[in-house]
Amino acid sequence: MKLLIATGNAHKVREISEILLRDIGPGVEVLSLHDVGFEGEIVEDGTTFEENALIKARAGAATGHICMADDSGLSVDALGGAPGVYSARYAGEPADYERNNDKLLSELRGLPPEKRGARFVSAVALVFPGRQAEFTVRGECPGRILKERHGKGGFGYDPLFFYEPLSKTFAELSPEEKNRVSHRARSMEAFVTLLKQKMKEYGYTLC
Ligand code: IMP
Repeated sequence: MKLLIATGNAHKVREISEILLRDIGPGVEVLSLHDVGFEGEIVEDGTTFEENALIKARAGAATGHICMADDSGLSVDALGGAPGVYSARYAGEPADYERNNDKLLSELRGLPPEKRGARFVSAVALVFPGRQAEFTVRGECPGRILKERHGKGGFGYDPLFFYEPLSKTFAELSPEEKNRVSHRARSMEAFVTLLKQKMKEYGYTLC
């Protein structure tokens, strides 16, 4: 079967293709929005990660292909879940990781470690165009926001996100370590299970 990935991010298309190849085998042919000639603009104005993932997956599925899309971000307990779906542009336009991290530090200034709980969240949506069938799965990774940056790896909020089980920030983990425990690793694991189940249920065969 063919699966369209509704993201303009070539890095994500490659990462997801590798996971599908590893966990399902070569029988799922991955297509990008570019491959199917999609040129529309997708407005991500949902209020949850799931809504935004569905908005993207529905837009992709409108081309007639089975489509998946993901949406992710950071949710901080003391900020009522913010920055949430606004994670990329928390400190305003243009999106900037350093300014976002500075803003997060200033919002949490003075809070002790036990009140700095947070989680990375990743939602993945799957839409089957001919069947009016839509599904979402979610992966979360709990952690704590430090008072200063540690580590040089990763991206986004990684230098501030302390992952207790490994006693390191995400920016101090190797890509392999992060990919084993991250919110995206967890949502993709759930997604692979969902995709296998729906392929069986709907009678799709591998290419
Ligand atoms: P996207 O929707 O997956 O592109 O992610 C939106 C924003 O969430 C990114 O711009 C980052 O600020 C943040 N984010 C998502 N995943 C991660 C991660 O693994 N590490 C650090 N920041 C992340």
